[in-house]
Amino acid sequence: MPKPMILRALRSKAFQLALQTTIISGLGAVIISAVIYYAAETTIKGQLDSAVKSEQAEIMSDSSGTEADIEASIHDELNDSSGLFYALLGPSGKLLVGNVDVSGALIKKLNVYKTLTVRNGLNLPAHVSAIRGMAIKLDNGDVLYIAEKANELMALNEFYSYSFLILVGGILVIGMAGGFFAARSALRRVEMITSASQEIMAGNLARRIDEDGSRDEFDRLIISLNMMLDRIQVLMQNVQQVSNDISHDLRSPLARLRDSLEDSKLMTPDPATGACFDQAIEQVDSVLGIFSAMLRLAEIETQSMRTHFLSVDMAPLVEDMGETFKVVAAADHKIIHTQVEAPLCVTGDRELLEQMLVNVIENAILYSPLGKDIVIRAWLNTAGGVAIEIADRGPGIPVSEHKRVLQRFVRLDASRHNPGTGLGLALVAAIADLHGAAISFADNHPGLRVLFQFPTTNTAVWDTTCKA
Ligand SMILES: Nc1ncnc2c1ncn2[C@@H]1O[C@H](COP(=O)(O)OP(=O)(O)OP(=O)(O)O)[C@@H](O)[C@H]1O
Ligand SMILES: [Mg+2]
Repeated sequence: MPKPMILRALRSKAFQLALQTTIISGLGAVIISAVIYYAAETTIKGQLDSAVKSEQAEIMSDSSGTEADIEASIHDELNDSSGLFYALLGPSGKLLVGNVDVSGALIKKLNVYKTLTVRNGLNLPAHVSAIRGMAIKLDNGDVLYIAEKANELMALNEFYSYSFLILVGGILVIGMAGGFFAARSALRRVEMITSASQEIMAGNLARRIDEDGSRDEFDRLIISLNMMLDRIQVLMQNVQQVSNDISHDLRSPLARLRDSLEDSKLMTPDPATGACFDQAIEQVDSVLGIFSAMLRLAEIETQSMRTHFLSVDMAPLVEDMGETFKVVAAADHKIIHTQVEAPLCVTGDRELLEQMLVNVIENAILYSPLGKDIVIRAWLNTAGGVAIEIADRGPGIPVSEHKRVLQRFVRLDASRHNPGTGLGLALVAAIADLHGAAISFADNHPGLRVLFQFPTTNTAVWDTTCKA
């Protein structure tokens, strides 16, 4: 599995949920183990303690309570190899008789039942890992300590330490592995939805997300999304149909009206009436222009054109554009300077890219004063993306209007006396967006600098794919 996929799986909500469940299960297992351990330990301790208690009672009842009698009783028990541990200490703490060397300091702490091991400084036989017992003070000042072999307690401790590690470790490992696989499978479905959405956004409206037929929540979500996409596609087709109908039904009569106006103009001998016809033709041209621009915009905004994208070399395209507009600019005594690096490959639609540059260059010529030069530059930026800039020496656009001028039909007051529809930059913005290019405006002190920055492309494949 690729590394980013593993990282994404680990960071996913599904894995975090599984981790939380695992931690809660682990805590539950710890609590249950602790309760079972406590119950088992208490039972074993109870059995050991009662054995010690009855032995204490037996020794006390067998003897008359004198030191010698008790010593004799202990001797008997030791000879009988009862398996218990005894120590009779005199008032000075000296061991009088016994098979375990509980020291004077230790014995003081044994007034309650305690489990002792070699770690407490005892010399225990090899087969005994621990003893448990308590000391009682006799009337004559001696101290009698009796203990029972407590190997079961040690075995219980050991058993629980291992099982605890195995249980908690097992829950953690199985829980996390389960969480990881659950996250990975959820992530695969999410990735599938993401990549399908990206394809749809890139213009392939017919793309649908694959259902796996499991009818789980993901599958149901995918079915709903696919149904929604079907509906959107139908609506888009309807919009397209309406646009086409408008284009056909309205543009044809307008074109016929234009022809009639031309004919009428030719037939009229009166120059004043001819001028009126000219004005009318101009208005019809403007309406036809708005229609074409609106239809073009609608077409671009569906983003379906992306499916026909090719590698285009912008270097000759920008050069040609500079050459073409030199003549137009010269009429206004403006010189166009073109500085182009080559090659400059972008992925896109050549005709649309041309249209985008034409609109901006036309603005630069239209809105800059007579005799002011225009500079068109195209280069490869440090990130490896193509950058194109068109700079003029006109009035520029105030920063507060930078966003607004990209909207449809927006024209600034300063340029109202110039012909235009206010759709040029809206078209530019739509084309730039279709190509993933960022568009920005800057002050040219004075004038406007329009900068396009295309996404980074793989320069290694340019030689074979990039078309002039
Ligand atoms: N280079 C420029 N210098 C100054 N103002 C500009 C420049 N380019 C655009 N503008 C302003 O932005 C407005 C919108 O430009 P846009 O190209 O969208 O429309 P237009 O040029 O008015 O009409 P058309 O649709 O015919 O291009 C313009 O009307 C003008 O006010
Ligand atoms: Mg314009």
